[in-house]
Amino acid sequence: MILSCPCHFGTERTLKFELSRIGAEDITAMDGRVEFSGGEDMLARANICLATAQRVQILMGRFRAVTFDELFEGVKALPLENFITVKDRFPVTGHSINSALHSVPACQSIIKKAAVVRLGKVFGVNSFEETGALCRIGFNIMKDEVSIYLDTTGDSLHKRGYRKNSNAAPISECLAAGIADLAGVRRESHIADPMCGSGTLLIEAAYKAKNIAPGLRRGFAAQGWKSIDEGVWKAERMRARELIIRDSGFEARGYDIDPDCIRLTLENARLAGVADCIIAERAPLNKFVNRDGETVITNPPYGERMLEVKQAEEIYALCGKVFKADKEHPLSLISPHEKFEEIFGKKAFRKRKLYNGMIKCSLYSY
Ligand SMILES: C[S@@+](CC[C@H](N)C(=O)[O-])C[C@H]1O[C@@H](n2cnc3c(N)ncnc32)[C@H](O)[C@@H]1O
Repeated sequence: MILSCPCHFGTERTLKFELSRIGAEDITAMDGRVEFSGGEDMLARANICLATAQRVQILMGRFRAVTFDELFEGVKALPLENFITVKDRFPVTGHSINSALHSVPACQSIIKKAAVVRLGKVFGVNSFEETGALCRIGFNIMKDEVSIYLDTTGDSLHKRGYRKNSNAAPISECLAAGIADLAGVRRESHIADPMCGSGTLLIEAAYKAKNIAPGLRRGFAAQGWKSIDEGVWKAERMRARELIIRDSGFEARGYDIDPDCIRLTLENARLAGVADCIIAERAPLNKFVNRDGETVITNPPYGERMLEVKQAEEIYALCGKVFKADKEHPLSLISPHEKFEEIFGKKAFRKRKLYNGMIKCSLYSY
């Protein structure tokens, strides 16, 4: 099978590395997506273990289409019955960019019709109840090239099952995991986030340091599929549990000016099973002490309206005073502000482009 994972733009290399660590083969990265080959065990392992992937999809086929007829015939030729049974739900969702077939609702409806015709013929039925397992069909049309996927994940993988609550501007768990990796978090790391919000960076860094598979606390759509043996999921969960590093020296401290954020961080760390290595206390940034050998990883407020941009800039200037930002005091900070380095007062050792949803950001590493 060819498996395919969308990810945040800028985290493809991290995802590629994660995939090679879990034993995936033929790994190819493209913009916002990484593809690889593997069987059922790899499909389950990818869902359970990957931290930066947003979902795991099976690539059913790729073909060119500039007319609805070509789209219909292309989909009708795919062996959907290998995974979708007569009772399953198979909604269709997707995107189209720079293509002749630009109407997403029209493409959705053609793909659905083609799937109904194909499956109806295979199963000898005229209609479908769609009351069974969820086998969502995804499509991506890019410059007239159509990719058809079956989603194995269900709710996006950023939903680890630990963040029941968040503050107003939480970072995605997948992006936070990518930042923890790029910041060089290891099993013995000590880290701090002085603007921790709901604690996502601290928790994802703890998962990385302790090699805790982020999907261990949740289920996946393909667990309900008849085509995948239940034992595969059990074996992969057991494998992931065995790989947890239980004696890591990792420690994290989080601070925030807002007491509700501290309550959230502590609650989320408890739900994530990493409360033993994370402390969090209410404190303003100007009281932060940058300890030797500790890595600061942080996501300050962005500020979107005029007044808020000014407040964000004041925080960046304060960061420049509080963070030593050198070899002994590594810093990784994500911001969308084009003039961050100027306001902070120091040029980053490395600047990487990352997308936080639709917001173009940079990860500044010192
Ligand atoms: C973008 S949010 C961080 C979100 C966090 N990464 C998460 O995933 O939930 C920025 C945080 O900075 C905090 N903050 C703003 N000004 C601060 C200051 N002067 N000192 C400490 N924290 C501050 C806010 O309360 C907010 O929680």
